[in-house]
Amino acid sequence: MMKTHTCGELREKDAGTPVQLAGWVNRRRDQGGLIFIDLRDRWGITQVVVDLESAPEAHAVADSARNEYVLAIKGNVRIRPEGTANPELATGDIDIVADEIVILNQSRTPPFYINKDEGNVDEALRMRHRYLDLRRETMQKRILLRHKTVKFIRDFLEAEDFIEIETPILFKTTPEGARDFLVPSRLQPGMFYALPQSPQQLKQLLMVGGFERYFQIARCFRDEDLRGDRQPEFTQLDLEMSFVEREDVMRLMEELATAIVKSVTPEKRLIAEPFPRINYWDALEQYGTDRPDIRFDLRAIDISEIAGRCAFPVFVENVKAGKKVKCMRVPAVAGALSGTQLRKAAKDLENMARRHGAKGLAYITIPTDPEGELRGPIGKFFNVDLKLELIEAMGAEGGDLLLFMSDRDEIVYAVTDALRSHFKAEMDLDDNLLAFCWVIDFPEFIWDAENERWDPSQHMFTMPLPEDLDLLDSDPGSARGSQYDMVCNGYEVGGGSIRIHDRAIQEKIFPLIGQSMEQAMREFGHMLEAFEYGAPPHGGMAWGIDRLVMLLAGAPNIREVIAFPKTQNGTDIMANAPSIAEPEQLSELFLQLVHPDAED
Ligand code: AMO
Ligand code: AMP
Repeated sequence: MMKTHTCGELREKDAGTPVQLAGWVNRRRDQGGLIFIDLRDRWGITQVVVDLESAPEAHAVADSARNEYVLAIKGNVRIRPEGTANPELATGDIDIVADEIVILNQSRTPPFYINKDEGNVDEALRMRHRYLDLRRETMQKRILLRHKTVKFIRDFLEAEDFIEIETPILFKTTPEGARDFLVPSRLQPGMFYALPQSPQQLKQLLMVGGFERYFQIARCFRDEDLRGDRQPEFTQLDLEMSFVEREDVMRLMEELATAIVKSVTPEKRLIAEPFPRINYWDALEQYGTDRPDIRFDLRAIDISEIAGRCAFPVFVENVKAGKKVKCMRVPAVAGALSGTQLRKAAKDLENMARRHGAKGLAYITIPTDPEGELRGPIGKFFNVDLKLELIEAMGAEGGDLLLFMSDRDEIVYAVTDALRSHFKAEMDLDDNLLAFCWVIDFPEFIWDAENERWDPSQHMFTMPLPEDLDLLDSDPGSARGSQYDMVCNGYEVGGGSIRIHDRAIQEKIFPLIGQSMEQAMREFGHMLEAFEYGAPPHGGMAWGIDRLVMLLAGAPNIREVIAFPKTQNGTDIMANAPSIAEPEQLSELFLQLVHPDAED
């Protein structure tokens, strides 16, 4: 080894010890006869002092070293002279007096600072030189946190008698609602593997295979539009158990999530234990989304009954037509604004609502004086009694802003969600709070109006709730699935369900989701067949590891916790992937390009 110690471990008690350190030049200060080098490695930073008088050769080498040069250093640990200790640094009580320095490698000047956390470095530049970006302390910490999280998960599940089993990457379509990545086969001309969108089918087949408790830290592939919390390849904690009910899986996963937070990121606080459970429709009605951020309490409340009696024609007609009128109370906003500011803010919010398809966004403000008038364009439509009813229904106080939405449900949900996101951005919520919750009782299917068929709300293997099983025949749209999603701070961290293990039930799903039996047999015949050989009742869950670690790290997106992520348009700009294939490669695969630009 080129080092006897790391750059993070030497302390006062080591004074006098001869040591060898190696690492990168984090910073160099030249004070003429003395050169100070902050030497950095994965474990920390240690200051090295090079004295022209006592070590002229080492001094000459140090003189030529620059930031990010790779050095090996021999020297002795010394307690720093009185008054020069650095309390900011773990090793700040000591330094190394160098006898010998070797430059192991030089470095060009990096395109951005490695030794300072400058938040505003262009992301494309970081991605192009990701290996340098990864040297930064923040990135080192995030990648280490990821390792610790995964290690914790492995240890926890091992203790619970789970075993980790690898499943193939070259497989067949395993749909989770995205497009497949296809891989052409050379040995089977004209045939394609699909990369798994998740190990869903394989883990179910492992249950048929008798393993009972399986998990995997599994790479998944989905060709879909990217967002801050989506990558084309990402990692799941994938898990499946036999002979369980919904409660069993939820209990285990909640225990695991709680234990991770307490052990890996003890500085974080869980808002509620046990995790609150929210019914899917309640989540949509109140928060406008099935992944609510419950760190803050803005909700849409149904006030149709009151609004139906006011004098605003739009509301009265909508209520008559069976549409709802919903109201969101934004505490204390209006009180702080002047009349002009308020009208401008309300206009901006209304424009936002319109972008989500709404016809408007009415508002009123609550006067601080109980006898005062409701301000805002529709204030005049509420008489004194209705005003009091409204204030009571909303729990409103003087200075509050009330926003009104009335439209088709989907539009009201979208506006509710958008308003919540808007106000959330202004709230500066504490990233150290983790508000986990469960969303349950999803519908088994969601109507796809465009294609006139039901789509699985989770995936096609989800078992309906036992009490709703009969609805598959009579009223599939009302059947609830056994799905459970784990949500944290507005992100869907994971989803799971109890699965269908009975061929007859599985066969009912295909025609409902618009698949012919022929197509189903071609794609999923192996599942149906497996169900005929004693498939046990089973269920499980998968978490997005990237999303979980992002939340634990307080990072703004999942690219920040993936060593080599793709950019927003799915490329790796460091290595230039994807890239063209050579004509010989294409012909070996029996492929021809028909893209108009392919010739170039
Ligand atoms: P689901 O499709 O909900 O369920 O995926 C599980 C979790 O994986 C994460 N995730 C992603 N993370 C990053 N980038 C993506 N493109 C991406 N897509 C999904 C999310 C999500 O909650 N087989 C089922 C699980 C099961 O039923 O056991 C499944 O894959 O955090
Ligand atoms: P109008 O009478 O059309 O000027 O509308 C009065 C107020 O009601 C405006 O602030 C509109 O944005 C709002 N508004 C109109 N239609 C709706 C609706 N369907 N839901 C909520 N607000 C509405």
